[in-house]
Amino acid sequence: MKIYKVKNYDEMSKKAASVIAAQIVTKPDCVLGLATGSTPIGTYECLVEKYRNGELDFSEVKTANLDEYKGLTKDNDQSYYYFMNHHLFSHVNIDMAQTNIPDGTAQDAAAECARYEDVIRSLGGVDLQVLGLGHDGHIGFNEPDDHFAAETHCVDLTEMTIEANKRFFASADDVPRQAFTMGIGTIMRARRIVFLVSGSDKAEILKKSLYGPVTPAVPASILQFHPDVVVIADEAAMAGC
Ligand code: GLP
Repeated sequence: MKIYKVKNYDEMSKKAASVIAAQIVTKPDCVLGLATGSTPIGTYECLVEKYRNGELDFSEVKTANLDEYKGLTKDNDQSYYYFMNHHLFSHVNIDMAQTNIPDGTAQDAAAECARYEDVIRSLGGVDLQVLGLGHDGHIGFNEPDDHFAAETHCVDLTEMTIEANKRFFASADDVPRQAFTMGIGTIMRARRIVFLVSGSDKAEILKKSLYGPVTPAVPASILQFHPDVVVIADEAAMAGC
């Protein structure tokens, strides 16, 4: 693991955007694994700025998002499809046909998970995966469990996640109870992982993830076994490390 401790959220975002930009420049048709949540918003802003300055070309870039809420339509402003369009895709010259997100409206969950895993495989796997960190240690929507899930699957969200994510919804009751997410195996097959963490509320779980025992009870701890992880975390998040 390469760990970069940066001053604050802005520095984290700039550094993350530089790492992603380097990936796009060195492999213009790369496959980016993308994340949602508040953590990568600044990173996407920096990437949009680089595109506007003429530093980046997304025309050949392909993407696969980590996860999607089950039951939300693409035009729901809380869907991750909407999020990606709003924060990145609609501002750059990406070919929307080359962007992939699990279909939250799929009725047959097992079929949708198998389809999504096939999509990633047919892209040749993910070159660079962006990850945030949930307060309970989740990555994507891989919640604490007694095993690591190998592939894309449908999960029941924990109370802690529902509580954390309700800020984006009218009320906790509106937060979907399930989601589709890449599995831990899917994530671990990415050739490179950029793990972004910001804020004192993540300090305890970040310490457990980076230095605690590797256990499915702290899903992010598996990253200790990945050969190419770039951790970019701010001082507040690194406070316990
Ligand atoms: C969400 C997402 C994750 C994200 C995490 C942290 O539930 N599924 O991919 O990393 O929670 O979110 P935030 O960045 O808002 O703290």
